[in-house]
Amino acid sequence: RIPPGIYNAIDYERLAAQHLPADRLAYIAGGCGWDQTVAANRAAFGQWAVLPRLLRDVRAGHTRRALNGQDLPHPFFLAPVAHQRLAHPDAELATARAAEATATCLVASTLSSAPLEAIAQAAGSAPRWFQLYLQPERAHTLDLLARAQAAGYTAIVLTLDASIQLASRSALAAGFALPPECTAGNLAAYAPSAPAPLAEGDSRIFQGAMRHAPIWDDLHWLLPATRLPVWVKGVLHPDDARALQAAGVAGLIVSNHGGRSLDGAPAALRQLPAVRAAVGADCPLLLDGGIRSGQDAFKALALGADAVLVGRLQMYALAAAGALGVAHMLTLLIEELQACMAQAGCASPADITPEALLPSCPTDP
Ligand code: FNR
Repeated sequence: RIPPGIYNAIDYERLAAQHLPADRLAYIAGGCGWDQTVAANRAAFGQWAVLPRLLRDVRAGHTRRALNGQDLPHPFFLAPVAHQRLAHPDAELATARAAEATATCLVASTLSSAPLEAIAQAAGSAPRWFQLYLQPERAHTLDLLARAQAAGYTAIVLTLDASIQLASRSALAAGFALPPECTAGNLAAYAPSAPAPLAEGDSRIFQGAMRHAPIWDDLHWLLPATRLPVWVKGVLHPDDARALQAAGVAGLIVSNHGGRSLDGAPAALRQLPAVRAAVGADCPLLLDGGIRSGQDAFKALALGADAVLVGRLQMYALAAAGALGVAHMLTLLIEELQACMAQAGCASPADITPEALLPSCPTDP
């Protein structure tokens, strides 16, 4: 049953607070440090107003979009979100069913509660990509790639911005710890070798957490190691974008990991125009961070994104109403985008250009 009182996708954020224990809510909603980048991601959308247009014929309007040869009925993706059992016992299997119901491309996390094969099965006909964290052992990474390809995932999303993540103060203060039922279903088969002890004077960060962090050599190793197109997630600097494009990645995801990696990083939306300018009009570019409405997606498309990913909203809807909630949340997002396009006189995503936006002034909504 669709929960009462949900009129917009963002309403699931409020409702989730009634369904999640305080420590889990703090972990999901929070970022890292003081949550400054979490706030910046949201505030960036408020910097823009959408300018309505009159008398334009949008009766043949649609939200379809082709991306690297894949036809998408709408420009929303389900972002990779780890440990979905925190939100609901059905975890990613429920999210996958919602993806199928709404023809949404889901990106399954390396750190999913359910194994990637079970997610693929639950996703049925939904398009699906696999988010990869490089494993300390290359053999394990290769095994994950082979499993993803065998299970019908059609692209790899290599996340590069999360080699080190310090917990948010709000999650720490709420006493959050990953509960025992939240194991990483994909990684059960890979026994981690014990990390080498730090030598005297070694840094817990550089020689500790960053020991296995990917470097350019790893990217050059990975690209020919799979037949699947490889996207990179976590791009904020235009020079990185240009270098990744030159290295041969299939596309880029402008993202600061929802403010969970570096507190103080700029809003993803703020960096989007510079990244778009760096890679040119034809490079496939997605954005995530702070998307809570169809209007937010409209603004991201106007500023250069081909599509957007939704992170926390899927956890909120999952917590509140399982698969039905996630499907409902996505349907609301799609309708909000359509209504915004119609008001702005845009009959297709290609019509959504920077001219549709105005810099906000303090009296704007
Ligand atoms: C994430 N994100 C994430 N990203 C990724 O590449 N792999 C992962 O396993 C996870 N796990 C994860 C867990 C939780 C609880 C959250 C909130 C986020 C980041 C995610 O893909 C995305 O970048 C952000 O969530 C986007 O911001 P919004 O939509 O949450 O504001």
